[in-house]
Amino acid sequence: MKVLVVGQGGREHALLWKLKQSPLVDAVYCAPGNAGTAADGINVDISDTDIRGLVKFALNEKIDLTVVGPEAPLCAGLVDELEKLGLKVFGPSKAASQLEASKLFTKRILRRANVPTARFERFDRAEAAIASLRTLEDGPCVVKADGLCAGKGAIVCANHEEAIDAIKRILVDREFGKAGSELIIEECLVGQEVSILAIVDGHTIIPLETSQDHKRALDGDLGPNTGGMGAYCPTPLITDELMTEIVEHVLIPVVHTMNMEEMPFRGILYAGLMLTETGLQVLEFNVRFGDPEAQPVLMRLKSDLAEILLAAAERRLDQIEPLEWDERPSVCVVMASDGYPGSYEKGRPITGIENADELEGVKVFHAGTKLINGVPCSNGGRVLGVTALGDNIFDAKRRAYEAVRKIRWEGAWCRKDISDKVRELLETENA
Ligand code: AMP
Ligand code: GLY
Repeated sequence: MKVLVVGQGGREHALLWKLKQSPLVDAVYCAPGNAGTAADGINVDISDTDIRGLVKFALNEKIDLTVVGPEAPLCAGLVDELEKLGLKVFGPSKAASQLEASKLFTKRILRRANVPTARFERFDRAEAAIASLRTLEDGPCVVKADGLCAGKGAIVCANHEEAIDAIKRILVDREFGKAGSELIIEECLVGQEVSILAIVDGHTIIPLETSQDHKRALDGDLGPNTGGMGAYCPTPLITDELMTEIVEHVLIPVVHTMNMEEMPFRGILYAGLMLTETGLQVLEFNVRFGDPEAQPVLMRLKSDLAEILLAAAERRLDQIEPLEWDERPSVCVVMASDGYPGSYEKGRPITGIENADELEGVKVFHAGTKLINGVPCSNGGRVLGVTALGDNIFDAKRRAYEAVRKIRWEGAWCRKDISDKVRELLETENA
């Protein structure tokens, strides 16, 4: 089987690496890929948003399965275009991708599915939004642009002054362009945040092992938001009982409602949830694997990923064996360019990746890298996802950082506390 992975980040390298291990797979391509996918597969120089180019490639090369990593091509309808031509693809349709592409769409689905979510109001004019805010007691709220904003569209505000500023940024300054032509003002929820990812084929729902990412740039969850500076798998936050509750009260009703709406959901359903004092509430959905969560999760998957994703694409997930997981927990530490999440230099040569990869239980996934004259060089903010399995989470962390220390480039940095949350959680549990 010939497989095409669409995207160029750490998530896509992890997908490609895992797909390649399948006895069903003869060749894996990545469009456009990075230096890591070039080493483990074959890069194709087509952008992940060039829908026509990707479709043409899949058709000409007789690709048997396309796996779409990022949200942009999903929301642009890549899956629909491939399916129209009878090609197999893992990922949601453009209509179903609205669960990530539109906050208002998601609120409507959640309401119809009777799934708890924060109270909200929608606005397309700043004056109306501000006037409505003034009728409420001053306090925290969340202002969210409706559309896709690369993870930056939700602004958590401590008070009305901050909220008014957020409203103006979205509706007056048009900071997010068309994605911010409408916004919602939402009740601010308090609690622990967790996420659950499940593989869905429109009917069958298979939850994956749990993971938690680290969104802030600095240790102790300080500093600006990033795409994610590391992740670990599994998280003790999600017990078996909680998982059952999430499947029964969130995933099943949402998948069912999407069918009722004639937009069956197929692909990865990623639910962002808040565990509040009064129960769980949905914050958001993504329609793809998380990055960097995919790296530690796929590192632990023992089952054949190609077989699973093909079964999902063919709508027969109910026929596959239960997923098998490595008992060992995993930790992924993101190494970034200096300046990230602000501006940074590219093109810096990286050394030591092979030495790190040689360590027992370690795999270095590339994210923002590119081969220049055969040498892997930095080519993005998040450059590598150094991932390790260990006997326990602390051992996995130790191994991941041992691998990190073997890798060098000018200006490389990382958080030093990835997975320390587990210790805190276990201590609170035992207290
Ligand atoms: P979203 O894009 O909706 O997931 O929001 C991004 C982040 O903002 C979430 O991961 C939460 O940390 C935070 N957030 C979103 N909605 C709320 C809410 N209603 N209350 C508190 N925090 C929120
Ligand atoms: N790590 C969060 C995301 O992929 O959206």
